[in-house]
Amino acid sequence: LSKIEIKLSDIPEGKNMTFKWRGKPLFVRHRTEKEITAEESVDLSVLRDPQHDKDRVSNPTWVIFIGVCTHLGCVPIANAGDYGGYYCPCHGSHYDASGRIRKGPAPLNLEVPYYEFPDEDTVVVG
Ligand code: FES
Repeated sequence: LSKIEIKLSDIPEGKNMTFKWRGKPLFVRHRTEKEITAEESVDLSVLRDPQHDKDRVSNPTWVIFIGVCTHLGCVPIANAGDYGGYYCPCHGSHYDASGRIRKGPAPLNLEVPYYEFPDEDTVVVG
């Protein structure tokens, strides 16, 4: 199946970039230290789909997920919503900077695809 190779140095800190992969939007986010600290310290008991940030990333600087809302499939907007991550405008789902659902109708966190870092500046998804 198809893979996509992304050059990480093209994505500034604090930004999310959207790529197209297997017909879907793929989000790659370069997190700030503040975002990493905030997401790592979230109490799992407040989460609808409880997952520790460390279980969603392999390098905390980079979060990678499918940009499809788990409610009915709209594409969430980056750096929006009440939790500083993503906001889905279709029915108002709010995701954090780990892609976890925090508020609104979506049942699950944004899906994390398989990926690896062949070198410091590259991620290969798929
Ligand atoms: Fe995202 Fe409904 S599709 S909130």
